[in-house]
This record gives sequence, C-alpha cells and structure tokens, in this order.
Amino acid sequence: MAKREKILILDFGSQYTQLIARRIREQNVYCEVRPYTQPAQDWESDELLGLILSGGPASVYAEGAPRLERADVDLGVPVLGICYGMQLLTHLFGGEVAPSNEREFGHAELTPQGDSRLLRGVSDEAGLQVWMSHGDKVLRLPDGFQSVGHSGNSPFAAMASDDDRMFGVQFHPEVAHTPQGGAILRNFVVDVCGCRPDWTMGSFLETEVDRIRRVVGDSRVILGLSGGVDSTVVAALLAQAIGSQATCIFIDNGLLRWEEASEVCGFFEDFRGIDFRHVDASDRFLSALEGVTDPEQKRKIIGRVFVEVFEDSADSVDGARFLAQGTLYPDVIESVSPKGGPSATIKSHHNVGGLPEHMKLELLEPLRDLFKDEVRLLGAELAIGSEKLGRHPFPGPGLGVRVLGEVTEDRCDVLRRADHIFIDEIRRAGLYDSIWQAFAVLLPVQTVGVMGDERTYENVCALRAVTSTDGMTADWFDMPREVLARCSNRIINEVRGINRVVYDISSKPPGTIEWE
Ligand code: XMP
Repeated sequence: MAKREKILILDFGSQYTQLIARRIREQNVYCEVRPYTQPAQDWESDELLGLILSGGPASVYAEGAPRLERADVDLGVPVLGICYGMQLLTHLFGGEVAPSNEREFGHAELTPQGDSRLLRGVSDEAGLQVWMSHGDKVLRLPDGFQSVGHSGNSPFAAMASDDDRMFGVQFHPEVAHTPQGGAILRNFVVDVCGCRPDWTMGSFLETEVDRIRRVVGDSRVILGLSGGVDSTVVAALLAQAIGSQATCIFIDNGLLRWEEASEVCGFFEDFRGIDFRHVDASDRFLSALEGVTDPEQKRKIIGRVFVEVFEDSADSVDGARFLAQGTLYPDVIESVSPKGGPSATIKSHHNVGGLPEHMKLELLEPLRDLFKDEVRLLGAELAIGSEKLGRHPFPGPGLGVRVLGEVTEDRCDVLRRADHIFIDEIRRAGLYDSIWQAFAVLLPVQTVGVMGDERTYENVCALRAVTSTDGMTADWFDMPREVLARCSNRIINEVRGINRVVYDISSKPPGTIEWE
C-alpha cells in the first residue's frame, strides 16, 4: 500500500496549534499535531514531507523554555516555524532573538521582499494583512537565511533559507485575521513540501475501510451505539468495511429524548447488514437513580450502570476481539502545558471509559484522526442524511442531568414532552441549524399559577439554547420573542406538570451548557 503523505506539526503550546492543522487539512493535505516532546519518528504507514513548529507562549531564552536540538528539526524535509517556531529556528541555526520593547499584537502589514516560494502569489505591492501576537522578535538572522518580509515593528517578519526550504514567519498564517494565510500554508505544504492535495474524505474512507479490514481480519467488532453523529458514522464505516462482523449495541437508559429510542432502532434495525442489538435497560438505570439528587452522584451511577449493562450485553457476543469507539482528534491531541514545561499534559478521553480494560478488547478508533466537521463530511460520504449529521450534541447521561433533583420516569416524561415542543418550534422557525444545542430542563421547583379558574402548583421548566463552535465556550442564543412565546404557550398548555417557563440567558463561562 502506498504510504500516506504527512505534515507533522510540533506543538509548543500555542492556542492556535489546532487551527494550523485545520487550515492544512483544508488544503486536502493530511497533517498531525504532536507535542514538541515527541519529534518525528518512523511511521509504518506515513511518509513525512514537512515539519511545522507551532507558536507558543514561552521565550526561547527563558529557563525551561520548550526546546529541541537542531537535529530534531533538520530532518531533510522542509520546515516552517510560526512565531515561537520561527524564534526557535533562528536560535537553533545561530541567529539571535531578543525581547522587543514594542510588542506586536493584532493586525499588521507585511511587506514581502524577494521571491520566496512561501509568499509567492499571495501579495501584491500593497502588502499583506497579517495577524501578529508576539513579544520576542528576531534581531539577527542565522547564516544562510534571508529576510523575505518585514512589518512596522519586525525587520524580519518572514525569513527563508537560501535554498528556500526552511522558513519562519513571525505572524500567524493560521488565523482568519491573516486573510491570505491559507494560501501561504498551501504554498508551504504543496509547493515546497510537494504534498499532493488529494487527502479528501473520499480517500480517507477508502484507506480507513482497507485498514479496518486488515486489522480486524475475520474477528468480530463491538460498537456501543448512542445514535449520535460520531457513533452513527462509526457504525456506517464498520458496515462498509466488515458488514455483519460488526455488532452494534444500543443501550436505552430510559434517559433519552422524545421517541429517540424508537428512532434509533428504526434507523439501525436493518442497517447495511450489521448485527444490531437493542438493550432496554431503563428500569435498571432508573432504579439505580432512585432517591439520588446530587448531580455528580447521578453521573457516576449512570456511568457505572452503563458499563455493567454494556459488559453483560457484550459477553453474549461470541468471538468479539475489538471495541470500536467514536473518539475524535481533539480528544486525543496531546498538547504541551501552557508554560511549555517539560511535563506534557495529555488530554485523553474515552467515550466509554474503563470498558476495554475490563473486557480485554482491543480498541478500534476509526475517527481518531478527524475533527468534528470532518466526521460530518465522512458521514455524508457514507450517505448518512444531513438531518442525522446535523443533530445537536446530547450528553451521555441524557435527561439524567436535565431532570434536576431526583430522576423518575414520570419527571423524564414531563421533560421529554416539553423538550419536544421546544425543538419542534425551533425547527419550524428554521433556527435549528443556527443553534449549537437547545434543550429543556425540568427544575425541582414548584410555583403557583392559575389555569381557568383553578389554582395550580406545578413545575418550572427552563429552556436553554446556545451558540458555540466547540462546546468549550458558549453564548446564549438570542431567540426571537415570538418563538419563545409559542414555546411557552404550548408547553404550559400541552404538558401536564409544567405551569411556568423561563429562558436561560447565561453564557459559558461562567455557566456551563448543561445545568448539572
Ligand atoms: P457543559 O455542560 O460542560 O457541556 O458546558 C459541554 C458540552 O458537553 C456535553 N456534555 C456531555 N457529553 N457526556 C457527554 O457525552 C457527558 O457526561 C457530558 N456532559 C456534558 C454538553 O451537552 C455540551 O454539548
């Protein structure tokens, strides 16, 4: 099999490192982020064609600054240093870096010089808008390098080696505020490194299907299916690669949304030849939650029961050797600590933590190289409908963290109805795709109301809708008044048990998206 061409991005702790990866993948070139402590190594299936050194908050000369040896960088492939990466390159090759009196943050204008391959075709006489964010700057270039661009405060805002294979830029080509940044990165990965821009979701699919077949052989694979985007895409991928050798287990924990369990079953019951198993464990979850009101307790119980039920169900699958999971790239990127110290913090997340260890199954994580929107593209490639791929995220503990206080079947039912109305109105108003996540929350609070001539004393329901790009930060959604009015009216009239509706106007931070 031909080797996959790859660009390696070494992370020195910049908040923009993931963006570099995104921008390069947009050029249809495959790249990976690694902590700087893991410089290039031999890969079985990949061919390294270029190296990028990311930015970072440290100063090259500071004690404990993240550094590499020249040999770690000089690998015979082209190198691009961005911000701190440029300063490090300068330092390693004998130039001089110093703190600057005039720090440069924000927009700057770069005037290109000479004709380097990096900046070819991306600017005219008028110069180039770039985004700067640095304190230190290059004072003297290393021997064998020349300046290829300067800005107001940086005589060496861009540099190139004489053989036009090593580059440094003081600005950030990866951010949107550098409008020609994509073109600059493309110049580097395609023209300089020689990557073929043919890494598409179609090619990913082909390679991944081959890989799964090779790894799995004639064994059986188990997948915990939630019906969400990631596990649905994994299921479709497994179906294409190994068909009936995949067993997908869908656990109904009784904490799902309106008609969700039957929708998931309807979708998967005859899905492309996979072995689909529906396990209704509602009673087991709800009885374990009886009398429990503490949010952390509830989460722990739901997690524990999930593992137990999954293990029981998986035990009945003969000959299983692999456990497939929908782990995504941002979950596995290991990044250096903000101070760039030697202790690399490793972010690791497993959707069903603890399972493989107990079950002695090998992990299969076919999405671990992909960002969320790439998973959606892959889903489209696998002919999964856009309605399924565009669904709002839903937390694993489900309504367990949205029915505040004790979780009972009746309270889940009340919440389900209210949530269904809210989502229905949002869809009708054409707003569903503009919102990251929308849902209803049932509060453990009763208030007095009047309906007809009767006094009521019933529950409060809160509606929450937020915009976000990654769930890490979020703003409350500015819902049109008439949509709110319809929701409130319908919920109070149609859902027995709710007599008051409020709208949550907290952003994250300091709030979180879920209430528990
Ligand atoms: P918070 O509430 O922390 O949520 O602002 C951020 C995003 O994560 C989702 N979420 C979860 N997803 N298991 C999940 O799979 C969980 O335990 C969990 N808790 C929160 C939440 O819905 C939001 O999209």
